[in-house]
Amino acid sequence: MTDPLSATIPLHTPASTNEWWRSAVIYQVYPRSFADADGDGIGDLTGITSKLPYLRRLGINALWISPFYPSPQADAGYDVSDYCDIDPVFGSLADADALISHAHQLGLRVFADLVPNHTSDEHPWFQRALAAEPGSPERDWYLFRDVDPGNPDQRPNNWQSDFGGPAWSKTPDGKQWYLHMFDSKQPNLNWENPKVRAAFLDILRFWLDRGIDGFRVDVAHALIKAPGLPDFHHTRDDFLTGAIPTYAAPFYDQDDVHLIYRSWLEVLDSYPGDRAMVAEAWVQPYDRLARYVRPDEFHQAFNFAFLQSPWEAGALRQGIIDSYRSNDAVGAPTTWVLSNHDVVRHLTRFALDRLRPSGLRPDDPAPDYTTGLRRARAASTMLLALPGSAYLYQGEELGLPEVIDLPAHARQDPTFRRTEGDRIGRDGCRVPIPWVKDAPAYGFNDTGESWLPQPALFGQLAADQQTGRDGSTLELYRALLAVRRSRALGEGQLTLVNLGEDIVAFDVTTAAGAIRVVLNLGETGWPIPDGARLLAASDPSVSDEVHTDTAVWLTI
Ligand code: GLC
Ligand code: MG
Repeated sequence: MTDPLSATIPLHTPASTNEWWRSAVIYQVYPRSFADADGDGIGDLTGITSKLPYLRRLGINALWISPFYPSPQADAGYDVSDYCDIDPVFGSLADADALISHAHQLGLRVFADLVPNHTSDEHPWFQRALAAEPGSPERDWYLFRDVDPGNPDQRPNNWQSDFGGPAWSKTPDGKQWYLHMFDSKQPNLNWENPKVRAAFLDILRFWLDRGIDGFRVDVAHALIKAPGLPDFHHTRDDFLTGAIPTYAAPFYDQDDVHLIYRSWLEVLDSYPGDRAMVAEAWVQPYDRLARYVRPDEFHQAFNFAFLQSPWEAGALRQGIIDSYRSNDAVGAPTTWVLSNHDVVRHLTRFALDRLRPSGLRPDDPAPDYTTGLRRARAASTMLLALPGSAYLYQGEELGLPEVIDLPAHARQDPTFRRTEGDRIGRDGCRVPIPWVKDAPAYGFNDTGESWLPQPALFGQLAADQQTGRDGSTLELYRALLAVRRSRALGEGQLTLVNLGEDIVAFDVTTAAGAIRVVLNLGETGWPIPDGARLLAASDPSVSDEVHTDTAVWLTI
């Protein structure tokens, strides 16, 4: 066991190769909520293209765009009805081509979001399956089981949908059940069927041919189910608390899933230009997750264990240690991510007394924005110095909080409906981005329409209010990313430094020299040593002391 409080611990040495994805900063665009060029209240691809100069100026290397395919939008596009086209609400294939080529001209790469675990029930594959007989090759594309005429309410097993309620629904004729680990409009594909596997290889090629630089793969750990689909005897909370390893569930992290990604990597590698893929795999413990990023599988996997850390020095430090230990063992870069479209924004999360994995309810005690912003800025300051690849979620660079007071009628996440409001859902982190304070929908479009209502606070947080303003969160991110780039911190070597129990501190060494990163979570200030030069600070008022909930980068 490594003692995190011994004086210094060399923790991470960079890989011998430095492909772009090993140290990239990748920005997640949630297309519904980013920028709405046609004014219908839902963001679109042309909107994204119009903001590429903003993203370039921010200093990121790539963007990952959440699903933009034709979809009934039962799960905000994660219910795909055609993998090789664009939903008219987002634009057209020509708009996608324009987005990709503009991004490339600006030196930005683009990841698409691939959803292989399930399709929409409106996908022609599912429609074709329903039109065919039980037991037919068409039905074998999905997971159908006969209804027992003697016991017609008895489902094939006890699995629950991740969005609440049972994971099995009946076909319209009532003769069979089909499995859906999410909404009933998201039937699970049968990945034991070679035709399904072949179809996805074609989908990968379709997008790679169009110039896509890689894929974020949705619920990558879920494709293979244990033989016989046995009952599961734990709860969702058992995973979230880490009480059981993920593979204890017969529908997650099953060993054979890895074969699929090996075949995908062969396709990616047959294209020029270092195409890459990142796994969305909520898999614990760390060593199991690392199996997804072995040299012949994914390039990266989201580091969700770290994302779930409470605001405590010990937990953050241990997360850093475990992440490098497990990823370095397989030669993969660690990723660092604090927010995405599925979790409570980290600004709000870090202001809470405890984690609330199911979201925040309007009647929960309101988290303090000032505390949250202070901690979020400190967290990101630390995170952007960590070697490896970093993921940002749209709006975190503006200091956006979770929106917790959305009215029930505005909520669209199927989780809210399927749990009858018991789980509040994820709409609060999906509210459209404010670009301009004094404009309709804060500049999201010019009609004032917005698929989710924006709170008044978004006005003062709009990008135009922060651009060029010293000390703004946007300028902090720009400054951090500029130093990260100029010193190639993402490719650095990392040594943990002991400055006390309540402080997370490490040195990052690159060809440009060493910087010391200090994040203070304790009550007492940490005096900056004489002779140290301040390169960046999460709090613009730092001069000779690093106060509580503050992070700095120093040269020493
Ligand atoms: C992933 C997505 C989430 C979606 C789910 C089902 O977890 O990130 O938004 O609801 O998969 O596709
Ligand atoms: Mg639109």
